Amino acid sequence: MTGLRERRERTLGPYAPLFYDRPLELVGGDGVWLTDVAGGRYLDAYNNVPHVGHAHPRVVEAIARQAATLNLHTRYLNDRVVDYAERLLATFDAPLDRVVFTNSGSESNDLALRIAAQHTSSEGVLVSDFSYHGHTRALAAATTGLRTREGLGPHVRTLRVPDLDGADRGHDEATVLAVALDEARAAIDSLRQEGHGLSALLFDSLFSTEGLNRVPAGYVAGLAALVRGAGGLVVGDEVQSGFGRTGTAFWGYQNHGVVPDLVTMGKPMGNGHPVGGVALSAALLDEFGPRNMYFNTFGGNPVSAAAGLAVLDVLRDEDLVERARATGVVVRRGLERLVAAHERLGPVKGTGLFFGVEILDRPRNDPRARPDPASTRRVVEALRARHVLVSRIGREDSVLKMRPPMPFGPREAELLLDELAEILDARPFGRCPLRSGA
Ligand SMILES: Cc1ncc(COP(=O)(O)O)c(C=O)c1O
Repeated sequence: MTGLRERRERTLGPYAPLFYDRPLELVGGDGVWLTDVAGGRYLDAYNNVPHVGHAHPRVVEAIARQAATLNLHTRYLNDRVVDYAERLLATFDAPLDRVVFTNSGSESNDLALRIAAQHTSSEGVLVSDFSYHGHTRALAAATTGLRTREGLGPHVRTLRVPDLDGADRGHDEATVLAVALDEARAAIDSLRQEGHGLSALLFDSLFSTEGLNRVPAGYVAGLAALVRGAGGLVVGDEVQSGFGRTGTAFWGYQNHGVVPDLVTMGKPMGNGHPVGGVALSAALLDEFGPRNMYFNTFGGNPVSAAAGLAVLDVLRDEDLVERARATGVVVRRGLERLVAAHERLGPVKGTGLFFGVEILDRPRNDPRARPDPASTRRVVEALRARHVLVSRIGREDSVLKMRPPMPFGPREAELLLDELAEILDARPFGRCPLRSGA
């Protein structure tokens, strides 16, 4: 154990998670590259918080300039904050024309659930059966993708999210859709029967913690219609899928043809500066506002607003959403080549700059094939040894998770793919070789 790790455990305790068998001590970042304490360079194919690139000079300068001018809480008029609200709201669809600023994704989801509960006079919440939306008490009671002592609240029902490349592979899409919507109907009925009613559906449009499920066309729209039909509100958690990550839209919900009643934001918003927010309609805010004095000391302070504005500027000026789309095509093609060559890889998942590939314990056509988290872990560690950073997601932690900063381009994509190919070609990665016929 290094001195720093010991000191960390003595102060932060041993429970704050660290990546990798040999945790990395990173001291610098620029663009899609990171530098460790020994001067080693790492290709960052994992981090979505430095959305427009590590230490982007325009974001750094905007933060520094505003911090050197004025920073304080949110009870004074400030043009920076209003400029940001206007610019951000211009990216949303009607009727989302108001924003409440927060400091994190958790705060945003907590507030969205509170607004929904007051609007509906109900407590019932629908989430997927393997998801994560934050760390507050209300969200811990709805957390299914991480260990929490609270357990599920009696007012929470979980939905099995279909996956046409996973559990539902080979089944007729229309049938998969009908079954999934029937399950949602039953969950709503059970909330009603037990007196909770329906307050909100909270979902991540990429189903990222779940493992990047490929859902049937119309699934999210169908869920939204059921929820609204039962008097509930739809909360789109865009902490992972927002700000152009999917390459095909600025907001993940746009890929599903549904405009949520509330959209929650966090991670990429301030490029690492803690910024979050909830977008909603004036009608919803006008209902919540007069009944609650919602005051957030740091949420929407001038420095946060400067960071958020700079992120929007860079996204526009460097055309990063289009770049994510284009690079995404290169990565997908490369991963598909790898899948064709390695029969223990599952189908390529994801879109834009959020990718996954599942590693299985047997050839994918073998009906006994199961997720192989141990092999996935070895691949993640092997990539780290080659100075490429990725991670794992999914119910079994068996899906390679690749989600780089948005400036990740075709050159970096080739680097990632080459390193991955060499690792997959090498033995041993489990009970049978990863390469077909090897
Ligand atoms: C989809 C989603 N929502 C919400 C959160 C919580 O955000 P934060 O850690 O900023 O509170 C996360 C964090 O990983 C997330 O992935």
